[in-house]
Amino acid sequence: SIPLFTTVSAFRQWRNVVRREGKSVGYVPTMGALHEGHMSLIRRSLAENDLTVASIFVNPAQFAPHEDLATYPRTLPRDLEVLEAQIYTIPGSALTRTPSAVFIPTVQEMYPSGINQDTAAQRGTFVEVKAYGDQMEGKSRPTFFRGVATVVTKLFNAIEPTNAYFGQKDIQQCLVLKRLVRDLLLSHPDPEHLHIVPTARDPVDNLALSSRNAYLSPEGRAVAPVLFQALQIAKESYLEGQPKGVCVERATQHILSVASQSTMASEIRLDYIEFNESDTLEPWAPERRRIATEPPVILSGALWVGKTRLIDNLILGNI
Ligand code: PAJ
Repeated sequence: SIPLFTTVSAFRQWRNVVRREGKSVGYVPTMGALHEGHMSLIRRSLAENDLTVASIFVNPAQFAPHEDLATYPRTLPRDLEVLEAQIYTIPGSALTRTPSAVFIPTVQEMYPSGINQDTAAQRGTFVEVKAYGDQMEGKSRPTFFRGVATVVTKLFNAIEPTNAYFGQKDIQQCLVLKRLVRDLLLSHPDPEHLHIVPTARDPVDNLALSSRNAYLSPEGRAVAPVLFQALQIAKESYLEGQPKGVCVERATQHILSVASQSTMASEIRLDYIEFNESDTLEPWAPERRRIATEPPVILSGALWVGKTRLIDNLILGNI
């Protein structure tokens, strides 16, 4: 069965051996409760690297005190089965690859100085990606990207991957981390080896797969696809050349009309639908589109369905 490492020092012994063998290591960080979205990252890594490492760590630093750290789904035995069952066949050969190792550290291992949910009471070392982490999701979750940036820096130091894979589902996370590896001059991975993998969706109604979808009631699950539909409506309006207020208004109206027909109507609340510049994450500045080398625009949204917060996004242009 797949080797498990719970300490950084044990993992490093394994890592040193494969480094001497000259093997490339692909890395997929996760918080577990694995689903097809995570698996699409694992498959990319298996295809592009000699060896693939996944980590499973529910990172306390990225949950605010009022958020769902205690109830976040933890399904370790099943996660390990799913990882072991993932078999990639190298095209044109009978050779196969499966994930090589799983890193499952304790909180103490990742936070030697301790970790407190109350950021004011925290001690030790944290990583902040200024400005980038404050836009979009950062406005609703002010300490979230500090927690993500801190843990991913530590994980990169422990794993030293050749390539690392992140999902477009969390586009701002991808862009914050790309900036982080650039600003901190990291080499494992360097910015070119941090890859963004397209969002895996439910094949029937396009709901973005997420560990938090497990919280949805049947009624909630039925209305959840409205967020992606709304983003598509906003995108069509954008492509028609409508001003952003109109794009957002049409998307919002769609959500309101679907919500009003649901038995959960009073529990469906749009957090935001926004257009942001992909290079600065500042709000979309339409005048920049007249410049020839225009950066893509990120269209993203967050929707509360009962106690579940859903996010999704589309990239308008090539990232
Ligand atoms: P988690 O939510 O478990 O997601 C792990 C990785 O899977 C992330 O890169 C995420 O973007 C990707 N992912 C999730 N749903 C996806 C989908 N439907 N399609 C494609 N990729 C998807 O993101 C985290 O954990 C944490 O913040 C972490 C990076 C592990 C740091 O703690």
